[in-house]
Amino acid sequence: MLPMAKVIVQHVCSDCGTTTGRWLGKCPGCGAFGTLVEELTGQATPPRGGRGAAVARPLQKLAQVRVEEAARLTTGVPELDRVLGGGLVPASLVLVGGEPGVGKSTLLLSALGSIARSGRRALLVTGEESVAQVKLRAARLGGADDVEILAETELEAVCATLEHERPDVCVIDSVQTLYSAELGSAPGSVAQVREAAGRLLRVAKEQGVATVLVGHVTKDGAVAGPRVLEHLVDCVLQFEGDRYHAHRILRATKNRFGSTNELGVFEMTGAGLVGVPDASELFGRTQAGEVGAAVACALEGTRPILLEVQSLVSKTDLAMPRRVGTGVDPKRLAMIVAVLGRHAGIALGAADVFVNVAGGVRIDEPGADLAVALAIASAARGVPLVEGIAAFGEIGLTGRLRPAAQAERRLEECAKLGIGRVVAPEGTQTRGGPPVTRAATLRQAIAAGLDGRRPGAGEEAA
Ligand SMILES: Nc1ncnc2c1ncn2[C@@H]1O[C@H](COP(=O)(O)OP(=O)(O)OP(=O)(O)O)[C@@H](O)[C@H]1O
Ligand SMILES: [Mg+2]
Repeated sequence: MLPMAKVIVQHVCSDCGTTTGRWLGKCPGCGAFGTLVEELTGQATPPRGGRGAAVARPLQKLAQVRVEEAARLTTGVPELDRVLGGGLVPASLVLVGGEPGVGKSTLLLSALGSIARSGRRALLVTGEESVAQVKLRAARLGGADDVEILAETELEAVCATLEHERPDVCVIDSVQTLYSAELGSAPGSVAQVREAAGRLLRVAKEQGVATVLVGHVTKDGAVAGPRVLEHLVDCVLQFEGDRYHAHRILRATKNRFGSTNELGVFEMTGAGLVGVPDASELFGRTQAGEVGAAVACALEGTRPILLEVQSLVSKTDLAMPRRVGTGVDPKRLAMIVAVLGRHAGIALGAADVFVNVAGGVRIDEPGADLAVALAIASAARGVPLVEGIAAFGEIGLTGRLRPAAQAERRLEECAKLGIGRVVAPEGTQTRGGPPVTRAATLRQAIAAGLDGRRPGAGEEAA
């Protein structure tokens, strides 16, 4: 009797990729609820050459390994090149994640267009949109006439085409639409996405095709499907945007060939995404002489970002004055207001305090405390901050400033965005970057930050 192919039922977490034998309400890997989905896997295929036929392979020393220094492919989109670390590395696999409608297809079609114009072969595999839809977008963007296109969702067909055609660059839009008939599960499931990425990785490396995978992100911003995808690829780019603004930010969260500190800023226009080389104009710049505005150099995850913090302080007759923060933690705001009153001589007991972080961004980290305090102090005193200044540092309950984490990265970001001077806690280490005024206490920081020569129109509110 022939042995029957054994079908194994597994339960895989759609967030982190943890597999378990039976269904559980809570994923043992990441602790998320209701994310385990059933997957059928066929019997594991025996290794090439059959069982027991594995032969030991010869080893070599790194010195003997021959490589030609492969030139990077410029994508023709300078902001994208910058985030990639100077262009696409041939035969690499890049994952681009982003929320629906943020502009992933637009960005990559422009890149493919200029790659094709430079005489290389650029292929777009579209599983999400029809050829006609892509044509409409191409007509709007212009300059993408030489891009080759394939509307296909079957993984085997895509891989076979890549092996046959061997384009220089291939974009798969999106990896979640690819499916392999060999696996029992539905397109977009963990097993399918993992299989697709694994096979494309092999084709990319063997055929020398620089491959870009478009991936959707879940509500909390992770690329949908298993984290395993992020380990597999060489580079993970996140495309972020704010619904109310036309600008988009591209960041690398992982890059095997470059730094992850780079940031690309784009503006969405009718003619596609336009790079914004001077990003400081967008978030991190206050109007000179404006009362109640400060620039924070906050760390988002591991990456610094300059944000304008605005504050309004107004007299109130309420028994319990309001402290309203948009984009800042209310408890932190209450603490900062209390420290300002107790240790910096800015009593706000009879004033409403409003704080807003520009661009709808949320800052949760304590390193932004000082900028929030400076914005409130400026609003309360009616005096603007020194022009071109930014601040970071944590405020302690005693009024003493504590150095913030990763000061060098923040200063690097300040230098990148053209900040003239930074107010930071004493003990902040510097290596290059803009000049730093070190302050031990909040009172000193306010003295350094407020522009004494430019008294504003407002009066002290409290
Ligand atoms: N005519 C237009 N003028 C201005 N902006 C436009 C125009 N058409 C589309 N857009 C912008 O392009 C965005 C959609 O871009 P795109 O299709 O590249 O996004 P995506 O990230 O690929 O989305 P999906 O996840 O749905 O594939 C829209 O949200 C809109 O802001
Ligand atoms: Mg798209």
